[in-house]
Amino acid sequence: TVGAAGAAGLVVGGAGGALGVSAARSAGRDAAHEALTTIGSTEVPFRQARAKHQAGITTPLQASGHLVAFDLAPGADRKAAAALLRRWSRTAEELMAGRTPDADTGVALDAGPSSLSITFGLGHSFFDRTGLQKQRPVQLDPLPEFSADALDPDRSNGDLWIQIGADDALVAFHALRTLQKDAAGSARLRWQMNGFNRTPGATAHPMTARNLMGQVDGTNNPKPSDKDFDERIFVGRDADQAWMRGGSYAVVRRIRMLLDDWEKRSRHDQEKIIGRRKDNGAPLTGGSETTPMRLEASGADGLPVIPANAHARVAAPESNQGAAMLRRPFSFHDGFREDGAPDAGLLFVCWQADPLRAFTQVQRKLDSGDALSPFLRHEASGLFAVPPAAEPGGYVGRPLLE
Ligand code: HEM
Repeated sequence: TVGAAGAAGLVVGGAGGALGVSAARSAGRDAAHEALTTIGSTEVPFRQARAKHQAGITTPLQASGHLVAFDLAPGADRKAAAALLRRWSRTAEELMAGRTPDADTGVALDAGPSSLSITFGLGHSFFDRTGLQKQRPVQLDPLPEFSADALDPDRSNGDLWIQIGADDALVAFHALRTLQKDAAGSARLRWQMNGFNRTPGATAHPMTARNLMGQVDGTNNPKPSDKDFDERIFVGRDADQAWMRGGSYAVVRRIRMLLDDWEKRSRHDQEKIIGRRKDNGAPLTGGSETTPMRLEASGADGLPVIPANAHARVAAPESNQGAAMLRRPFSFHDGFREDGAPDAGLLFVCWQADPLRAFTQVQRKLDSGDALSPFLRHEASGLFAVPPAAEPGGYVGRPLLE
């Protein structure tokens, strides 16, 4: 999974780092210059060797993230949008390689690329602003309303969207500031959300991430090794809008967790609500984290072991005509609300070739009464077309904009 792959082979964390230093001393080298880990030096390529998609989709989850939406400035047209995406692509390529611009704030000096990924998307309104309505894919049609939605329009949608992820918070912030400066005059910040995941190396071995409810989250994600992975996650070669072939659609939801209510529930209740154990993420029907759920199994009381309204059952492809998406979220914590409750939860980001057949299908099901929904509030929403990676010498979105 994205989660489990996160730290694979990359990191010497905590105690390992200290061992590295003492090993260096005993070897007579300058301990001050011995790398503690490979976190900083790990690079995510802006142009992937064979894959046609942008970084930040199948890239392992990073520890720190920013989701940002921009609106084109009044008067900015298609040409201005093309120039902006050209500037942004150039910046992304430089920063992801660990190079900083000449006139720079210095925030990321000393750090390596730190697995920085920068991903660009286009919202429904982008096509109106640039006169490209004919090129707008139907997949960008607004998401339906769900009964549990309490969406803030000011923190939803937007002409342009950027996802930034890095394993160092200063590197992520620096990327955000640099991209924001690149936009000056042509686009204005609409909303910004900040998120985090577990730091690579914090666990003794690579593990799937946990969310702020404490659950192992990301287990049953589609995996790049699945034979239908590309078909489910990336836009196919026969898509109507040729410029989106190899791209993907991102659904973004700011989902606040009602943690005061959740944390009052017993471990037993919490596990029934999801259908999986809390400690190791295994299905309630037994085995380990990766053992398939036995949805048909019933207990001595004749009831299903994984309850009929358990989140993992209701969301599963088996319950949704095969619908699947790649969930790649960040957690968030924006302080406390007036009532003292944490303003915290999940910046849910999911990737799919067709949102109507993936996110919308599953969210409709969940909305009609899964056991987790009473503990959640969907507070902001976005849907973005994420074009394929830039060609050498090109920029993201060029086939659409030129
Ligand atoms: C599975 C948590 C929102 C779709 C899971 C699992 C957990 C979880 C713990 C089981 C482990 C796993 O397979 O990853 C949450 C939390 C949410 C949330 C805390 C909100 C804060 C959503 C939303 C959707 C969704 C909005 C899509 C509309 C799925 C899917 C699975 C899943 C497709 C895999 C089911 C399977 O195939 O076994 N979720 N989820 N989740 N969730 Fe969520």
